Amino acid sequence: MTIRKILTEPDPFLRQKSENVEKVDDNIRSLMNDMLETMYDAPGIGLAAIQIGVPKRIIVIDLSKNDEKKNPQYFVNPVIITKSKKDASYEEGCLSVPNQFAEISRPDTCKIKFLNYEGEEKTLEAKGLLATCIQHEMDHLEGILFIDYLSKLKKSMIIKKLSKQKKTLERIVV
Ligand code: NI
Repeated sequence: MTIRKILTEPDPFLRQKSENVEKVDDNIRSLMNDMLETMYDAPGIGLAAIQIGVPKRIIVIDLSKNDEKKNPQYFVNPVIITKSKKDASYEEGCLSVPNQFAEISRPDTCKIKFLNYEGEEKTLEAKGLLATCIQHEMDHLEGILFIDYLSKLKKSMIIKKLSKQKKTLERIVV
């Protein structure tokens, strides 16, 4: 397993639409292992492959608390079948939008189908945090970030901040 570099906004790569995985083989499983290790290291509770520069429709999520046993969940080619009319709000952040948070409303529950780590077809009814997390990660597969739901002004302020941070980082590279 390898920790990979996480791309951050404004990296145009993050805006790319990810492609379906044709077959869940050892290469894909190895990629999912890297994604999981990268997510744990960051640390975060969800990661999409595009965030480490791989435009494939793969998501990893682990909502276990620090003192609990790890509970990685893998979603390949996820598709939303139904979502609730009722919304839920969380203060969302994103590993690709470092140190920025905003309240975002999304459907409270969703039913999805996907392929798991073994490549088997599964369906899942997700609620609350898991439902929000799945929808946030599925947005990444379409090149959408949570800041896209904010007002133009808020969004441009965040992007400006992040661009500045990036410039500072580049200056100290030796
Ligand atoms: Ni994210």
